[in-house]
Amino acid sequence: MGLPEQGWTWTSEAGDSLLASAEAAGVTLPSSCRNGTCRACLCRLLSGQVRYRIEWPGLSAEEKAEGWILPCVAEALGDCTLAVPAASRAAFD
Ligand code: FES
Repeated sequence: MGLPEQGWTWTSEAGDSLLASAEAAGVTLPSSCRNGTCRACLCRLLSGQVRYRIEWPGLSAEEKAEGWILPCVAEALGDCTLAVPAASRAAFD
C-alpha cells in the first residue's frame, strides 16, 4: 500500500481494512465512524482495486466510478495507492 504524495508505503495483512493496515504501519488517515457511513475517510484510489466488507458503503455509483473509496471498510485486492493529503505519520526516526 502507499501514499505516493507523501512517499510512504506499508504492507496490508489479508482481511485488514486499508485504514487499519495504515494505522498498523503508523500512518493515520482521517476517520470517524469506521463503518462506512460518515465519509470522514473518503479518499481517492490512485491505483489498485478494493473490495468492501459491507454491502452498501456510503458512496454513489458515480463516486465509485471516479475512484473515491472509503478505506475504513475497503480491503485491498493487491497493491493499492491512495491520495490522502491529510494523512499523518508517527515519527519513527
Ligand atoms: S470513517 Fe466513517 S466512512 Fe470511513
